[in-house]
Amino acid sequence: MFGFSNNKIQSKQSDVGPSHSVADFLAKGTVSVKDIIAPSFVEVDFNHLKIDDKYYRTLYVVGYPRYVSANWLYSLITFDHPLYISMYIYPAESKAVLEDLKRKIAEMEATISNEMKAGKVVDPTVQVALDDALALQAELAKGAERFFQFGLYITIPAGSLEELNQITKEVDSILSSLLIIARQATLEMEEGFKSTLPMFYDKLGVWRNMDTTSLALTFPFSTASLTRNEGILYGINEHDGSLIIFDRFTLENANSVVLGKSGGGKSFLIKLEALRLLMMGVDVLIIDPENEYQKLAQSVGGEFIVFAASSQYKINPFDLSTSNPASDELSNKILDLHSLMRVIMGELTPSQDALLDRALVAVYQQKGITQDPQTFKNEPPLLEDLYKVFVGMETPEAKELADRLEKFVRGSASGIFNQQSNFDIRNPFTVFGIRDLEENLRPVAMYIVLDYVWNRIRKDKKKRILVVDEAWYLIKQKDSAAYLHSFAKRARKYSLGLTTITQDVEDFLASEEGKAIITNSSLQIILKQSTAAVEKIAETFYLTGGEKHFLLSASIGEGLFFAGHNHVGFKVVASEEEKTLIE
Ligand SMILES: Nc1ncnc2c1ncn2[C@@H]1O[C@H](COP(=O)(O)OP(=O)(O)O)[C@@H](O)[C@H]1O
Ligand SMILES: [Mg+2]
Repeated sequence: MFGFSNNKIQSKQSDVGPSHSVADFLAKGTVSVKDIIAPSFVEVDFNHLKIDDKYYRTLYVVGYPRYVSANWLYSLITFDHPLYISMYIYPAESKAVLEDLKRKIAEMEATISNEMKAGKVVDPTVQVALDDALALQAELAKGAERFFQFGLYITIPAGSLEELNQITKEVDSILSSLLIIARQATLEMEEGFKSTLPMFYDKLGVWRNMDTTSLALTFPFSTASLTRNEGILYGINEHDGSLIIFDRFTLENANSVVLGKSGGGKSFLIKLEALRLLMMGVDVLIIDPENEYQKLAQSVGGEFIVFAASSQYKINPFDLSTSNPASDELSNKILDLHSLMRVIMGELTPSQDALLDRALVAVYQQKGITQDPQTFKNEPPLLEDLYKVFVGMETPEAKELADRLEKFVRGSASGIFNQQSNFDIRNPFTVFGIRDLEENLRPVAMYIVLDYVWNRIRKDKKKRILVVDEAWYLIKQKDSAAYLHSFAKRARKYSLGLTTITQDVEDFLASEEGKAIITNSSLQIILKQSTAAVEKIAETFYLTGGEKHFLLSASIGEGLFFAGHNHVGFKVVASEEEKTLIE
């Protein structure tokens, strides 16, 4: 090694001298913050720097390619190892540059004419340089271009000298592939290191001329970065390692959709999002057909409301909103109930439909409830009352409808949806678990919970998200799909963000309502896809062949993140702590 290796920059602590112990020094109270954060030593070698146990080497650029295209430094910026890259830009006076150019041009012209006179072949590189200089002279004189001095320095950090040498080689080869000529800042490692700290501290001063166009193309801003100043982390951008940070509530609407194959990590992502949103003061409501959010609810002190025949929680779908009712509250409620009844009873003929309408009006009338909001305080009717109205009609058609309802009044489902509601959503984290219901009852339960949530959120406006996991239960049926869609459209007004999650991508995209829900969602997240679904996805989201392939081969928690017109490949990451809270 050279003598430089002993050339240590002593930090303040070691300046104290051997006669004082660190304890004495601390006791004097003269240790400043600088002393605490400063490295214990810095060793300056002739072609690297060692700070504590890390090695650093700085390169500076001395030559650029003749032509550059947009974002031409992309492969350097996205290099798969941390690099400290500094760009120094100094505007130059066009007048001085023009004079310089004039001199250079005269020189080159003289060289060429001399060679021609001597009967030699003109060096083609001189000819090219002359053409460039003349073109530039014209642009500068017109004022179409301005001139800048540009310095580009790269510091490579590494854990060991071997690693440093290895990475230096890799960076060198990337730079050569970009036709950039770089040199190591030999004997100037300290200056080089300082020059790449984010302090505008250009100690190297190696500059090259650059015109406005080339400089603009050098700016590394065209990576598809999806980072906002506020919000929560959704994952890591796989293109450039940047963080994907968003606040749903600042977007056009706060809705999101998550599409992906079963086991692809949809629920995991949503659990993480819920946890992170909760910390930002957003209330979370979840409709959970698999009872898989129970652990998370427990971890955060949330409420897990189980719907099962024996459960204590009841919801009456006939509830009316008594606070801030709209003028057409009852008519809307009857329309919604109409759709719900079709979800419960299946397809209806037009005359059955008409019958249902009359029965719904009658059942509220029996309880003294009319369009007048004052009457909404009366106890609402129950499903059983509707059943009785059908029975009382004494026609075969009404009898058939009564039969279809019977299961909900006397059968297995009667325990839950045929009684007055007996709880309120008070907990900021509330999950509705419906796994214990029969499969064909789940869409009904999801519909009823949606409707219940709708009544509830109108009581007080607050940032909330409502997650509907396994939303294909609702999309399967036209009426419940339409209800979910109208929910998505109306949510914004009450600061609610609807999250729709589904694995059944083909059915979702084949339905008008499914497509409309996607259009009504500012955030769209597509995780791993099956071969069957990927074509439809590619068509709907205008994906390239590469992106299609990415979705097919994505591992768990990997996918595409769409926000507005931008999308990037991303990976969902959770800390160990978060993992223990959600699983
Ligand atoms: N980003 C991730 N990091 C680590 N593990 C994950 C991630 N995403 C999903 N998993 C694991 O994969 C399993 C399946 O994920 P899940 O979210 O339940 O899939 P889906 O809801 O799409 O069917 C989970 O048990 C979870 O532990
Ligand atoms: Mg799931």
